[in-house]
Amino acid sequence: MKKVVLVTGANSGIGLALCERLLSQDAQLQLCLACRNMQRAEAARQTLLVSHPQAQVTLLHLDVGNMRSVLSAAEEFKQKYNRLDYLYLNAGIMPNPRVDHKAFYKGLFSSNVVRMFATGEGLLTQEDKVTPNGLQEVFATNLFGHFLLVRELEPILCQMDHNSLVIWTSSSNAQRSAFSLDDIQHQKGREPYSSSKYASDLLSLALNHHYNNRGLYASVICPGLVMTNLTYGILPSFFWTLIMPIMWLIRIFTSTFTLSPYNGAEALFWLFMQKPESLDPMAKYHSLTSGLGNNYTQPHKVRTDNQVPSLIYFSLILCSWQTLASKLTCIAFKVHISYCFPWQSNVRLALLSPCSTVRYL
Ligand SMILES: NC(=O)c1ccc[n+]([C@@H]2O[C@H](COP(=O)([O-])OP(=O)(O)OC[C@H]3O[C@@H](n4cnc5c(N)ncnc54)[C@H](OP(=O)(O)O)[C@@H]3O)[C@@H](O)[C@H]2O)c1
Repeated sequence: MKKVVLVTGANSGIGLALCERLLSQDAQLQLCLACRNMQRAEAARQTLLVSHPQAQVTLLHLDVGNMRSVLSAAEEFKQKYNRLDYLYLNAGIMPNPRVDHKAFYKGLFSSNVVRMFATGEGLLTQEDKVTPNGLQEVFATNLFGHFLLVRELEPILCQMDHNSLVIWTSSSNAQRSAFSLDDIQHQKGREPYSSSKYASDLLSLALNHHYNNRGLYASVICPGLVMTNLTYGILPSFFWTLIMPIMWLIRIFTSTFTLSPYNGAEALFWLFMQKPESLDPMAKYHSLTSGLGNNYTQPHKVRTDNQVPSLIYFSLILCSWQTLASKLTCIAFKVHISYCFPWQSNVRLALLSPCSTVRYL
């Protein structure tokens, strides 16, 4: 049976490198690139077809920060495929990142210097905004949209005859200190990225708790520090090129400087080679590159208090209800419009959404 793999944020960086590696490993794969920009998605597809001309690569329009897009993408995917073996939740944003220069110079001359470079802890702040769905953008994109996608794809992820794996791309910047259960969208702080990534670590644990008995397994990875559009948003690419020799040197002490998207995708690729049920449900798998340039994957336990993962899980379910409830109001309005003005009807939307909502209630 051909495996079906869906990768979000597949048109660049780590996502695209992962797709290359997956196709090199299994030419029979049915690979679906889920992207928000179809031009960039098509360019990525063409790049993949150059090295794998026979590959089956399809595109799915998905803006993971937009809840309506998530629902219709999931619907479209379920119509095309009747199984899903690997779901890579890789799309992510770090909008308007700022480096805290004071913390940088302080850290530079402290014993914490390697850790500071490896995790960006305390160094990075971002400016978040609110999406048209009324959610914080970083939360919606990095966490909630992906969670909704998992829930919507549940019927093809949870099947009796085979196990499936959902894999989150997290970060070493996922800091417990940036996350609060009272503010899961991180409306009050200045580290929404760190908060969303820590929540995705815990959500992976919670998904294992709630879904393993139905054949769905979850895992989370950290790609290390990788040169991609995301890092070029923090500092310009010429600066990174300038300090590259220093980073190669630091790699001798910390293998977390994977630097290239190919290396960064190591743990994502390694998970593809494992049996989902053999993985540690409490682990975060790290892509690492040694001083000599060898890639390997290492698990580390995710640090948390027992109840927190489930509390995040239920908070997100509640958030889904709220989002879909406001959508229902909108649907009721549309049904009313189509009743009064039949020539204006948008019946497809009206039919699609209650089905999704019923599964949540
Ligand atoms: N680079 C690092 O050092 C590093 C470290 C730790 C974790 N990560 C994580 O690795 C993942 C991949 O990032 P990357 O480094 O490869 O950066 P990247 O090249 O910027 O890739 C991010 C991908 O996510 C997509 N994306 C962003 N917002 C989206 C949305 N609303 N809907 C659908 N797709 C969306 C982007 O699409 P567009 O091209 O349309 O923007 C792009 O394809 C992210 O989750 C990131 O947080 C990266």
